[in-house]
Amino acid sequence: MSFTPQEIIENSKAHTLVSWSAQGAWSPIAYDHAEGVYVWDANGKRYLDWSSQLVNVNIGHGHPHVIKAIQEQAAKLTYVEPSSTTEPRARLGKMLAEIAPAGLTKTLFSNGGTDAVENAMKAARLFTGREKILTRYRSYHGGTFAAATAGGDPRRLANEPGVPWIVRLPDPYAYRSPAYRGRTQEEGDLVIADMIEEIVQLEGPEYCAAILLEGYSGTSGIIQPSPVFWTRIGEICKKYGILLITDEVMSGFGRTGEWFGINHYPDVKPDILVFAKGVTSGYVPLGGTMLSQEIAEYFDTHVLWAGLTYSSHTLACAAGVANIEVYQNERLIERSREMGKKLRQGLMDLAEKHPCIGEIRGTGLHQVLEIVKDRATREPMSEFNKPMSDPMKTVATTLKQNGLSTFVRWNLIFNCPPLILNDDQLAEGLAILDQALSKIDSFYTGK
Ligand SMILES: Cc1ncc(COP(=O)(O)O)c(C=O)c1O
Repeated sequence: MSFTPQEIIENSKAHTLVSWSAQGAWSPIAYDHAEGVYVWDANGKRYLDWSSQLVNVNIGHGHPHVIKAIQEQAAKLTYVEPSSTTEPRARLGKMLAEIAPAGLTKTLFSNGGTDAVENAMKAARLFTGREKILTRYRSYHGGTFAAATAGGDPRRLANEPGVPWIVRLPDPYAYRSPAYRGRTQEEGDLVIADMIEEIVQLEGPEYCAAILLEGYSGTSGIIQPSPVFWTRIGEICKKYGILLITDEVMSGFGRTGEWFGINHYPDVKPDILVFAKGVTSGYVPLGGTMLSQEIAEYFDTHVLWAGLTYSSHTLACAAGVANIEVYQNERLIERSREMGKKLRQGLMDLAEKHPCIGEIRGTGLHQVLEIVKDRATREPMSEFNKPMSDPMKTVATTLKQNGLSTFVRWNLIFNCPPLILNDDQLAEGLAILDQALSKIDSFYTGK
């Protein structure tokens, strides 16, 4: 006999644990099924998936092409150990080499983003013989010990001191960083890049293996610099023989209107690229670490000290192949770019109505609203790394009540729907956002 909606929640709470939370406060929605951009809970209520779950269900839910590929592969062969190989693995490796930035030729597959980041850091340290990895404070790179240390996100704090070889870098956060006071975005970005070069010198370039940056910033607030920043980072890496690792776990597979976030900066050539999420849109877990030809050749004669039982999982690779076919056949990368412009216009219209929208950031279907009490002082509606304020709780609750599922973090509202979103669904999402923001207009204290 199946569980009632209440039994699903009770048994989940009694016998399972939830990530990143005090368990007692967990009050989940029990979902039952999904199609396209919508998910339904066990009581039959429909939600517009405005965050593609964890910014991973890029092609939308229940795509028949991917379901068929998974079913056919499951009936044939689901798994073999990773030192053997299969057609889905060979096909996916080839497809990735074709869509990735030039020069990235070989992939080491993993189960998700975290282990792909771990493998990237291992490969960089083995290849260079150097120890330190430099990362941004406002970034997230995964939940295991070293990956959590690499991300500067506050989720690392309970894990501190973490691994000793991570060095954190200042963020190109034009809206809030003091480095930008009295400067344009580009001027401030160059100051931050100069500070990064100084940190490299102070840390000893001969000890610095890699700079690890999200190809396009994600959960920390889509805090993305201008191209001058990336050009300088590329120059710094070259000057000191440091590798550049781009983490495309969230920003990959069309999310920002390009295959990968780093494609927005064609001058920059990553040595290692990490992906997960959108490669399978969550239909089966999969991640990977792509290496440049030069690094890959190094491992022709040196052992690549990394491995996982499920590396190159056959079913996951088949899901990856089918996903890339969907991105290509349905032109979803272009669609993300086009719908992203309409989303931006819609968010700008909301900002005309709701002065609490302090800043809109991002591109493609990867955009965030930063909510403030006052546009002049930029005082946030909820403080960084503090429990959510009452107004932001009101926003989050109203969105959910009115049938929109997304994540609201501190004073940030994320707008990252599946890339198949159409005009009507966009209008529906914007209308629900409008209703939720109307509820907190009275908390705006600015003029
Ligand atoms: C940029 C980035 N890197 C790595 C990760 C970790 O990926 P996973 O949760 O699949 O292990 C995430 C997850 O959100 C991410 O956004």
